[in-house]
Amino acid sequence: MNRLSKIIGGVFVLFGFSWWGLAVYPYLSFASLKENVDPNTKEVAPPDLPGAAQQGYRVYAANGCVSCHSQFVRDKSEGADIDREWGKRRTVARDYMKDGQVFLGVSRFGPDLTNIGLRQKDAQWFYRYLYDPRLFNPDTTMPAYRWLFQDQAIAGQPAQNALKLEGADAPRPGHEIVPTAEAEALVAYLLSLKRDYALPEAPAPQE
Ligand code: HEC
Repeated sequence: MNRLSKIIGGVFVLFGFSWWGLAVYPYLSFASLKENVDPNTKEVAPPDLPGAAQQGYRVYAANGCVSCHSQFVRDKSEGADIDREWGKRRTVARDYMKDGQVFLGVSRFGPDLTNIGLRQKDAQWFYRYLYDPRLFNPDTTMPAYRWLFQDQAIAGQPAQNALKLEGADAPRPGHEIVPTAEAEALVAYLLSLKRDYALPEAPAPQE
């Protein structure tokens, strides 16, 4: 009997600790995170996602980008992320406090996208990349997201955001390939991905 109560007690302690460590402690430490306001510049970090980017956030989720792309930068002591120029500093919990769902990613078949909006600033580049990643690397495993674009007859002037495509990808004469509203939102989201602000717990390293 005495032995049984020890076993039961032990089981409670064991599960109690795991529950505290894996559920309660992270909840208490992350739920109290607040945005950082720089005392000099009054800059708020992390910034809010712009409106169009919020739509794009959902398109990113719906198209499974997380299965190949991560959104976290490891510290120098933990890997080569900073040497690969995926970010100037590691990412920390506060970076994600405004994300409804955090896209840390499942695996890294492609590059980390935490700071893709700093590496590429041109919407046209993103449209062409999503329409045909093979234009950039013929051997890539990244799928083409053609359903995010539509082929339409040119009415008068070509559309401002029509894709600049040549060769096998070139549209039929008199037609153009334009991004759908979903593609526009997704690209607004990708352009907004930049963790270039400093946080006290993760200052950017001095060059
Ligand atoms: C099956 C895996 C896979 C999926 C799914 C995928 N990608 Fe990729 N992506 C890659 C790979 C691999 C590369 C690297 C390109 C290469 O092979 O040179 C890449 C490259 C990129 C790049 C260029 C990154 C850079 O640093 O130049 C962007 C942007 C990108 N992907 C966005 C997306 C978005 C947005 C989605 C979802 C709509 C997505 N990817 C889905 C595999 C994937």
